[in-house]
Amino acid sequence: MALYSEKVMDHFRNPRNVGVIEEADGVGEVGNAKCGDIMMMYLMIENDVIVDVKFETFGCGSAIASSSMATELIKGKPVAEAMRLTNKAVAEALDGLPDYKMHCSVLAEEAIQAALTDYYHKNPGKRPD
Ligand code: FES
Repeated sequence: MALYSEKVMDHFRNPRNVGVIEEADGVGEVGNAKCGDIMMMYLMIENDVIVDVKFETFGCGSAIASSSMATELIKGKPVAEAMRLTNKAVAEALDGLPDYKMHCSVLAEEAIQAALTDYYHKNPGKRPD
């Protein structure tokens, strides 16, 4: 069996939603101290819906594929749904990652959480109870 699924290879070779949103409502930056990879996530939010999302990942192929898939999973979705996105769900949507690469999908979950934390920091009135 191939080490990486076709979906992982597709999202690695043709990552979706790459880039920067200059006027983002929420920005998250996370990194993995062990491998040194870094992920940035930018969110545009209107009426509690993620209307646009972009990312920049300076890291391994699994981290790029994970961030690409994560953006696809939250784009157009309510903020509450994005908050619940787990790295496991990202890995499953990619048809799996090798065990030793699961930590790469954690970066995607953490980057979204960090961007949402930034959004709520800037918009305390929107914070759910
Ligand atoms: Fe660092 Fe994949 S090896 S995130």
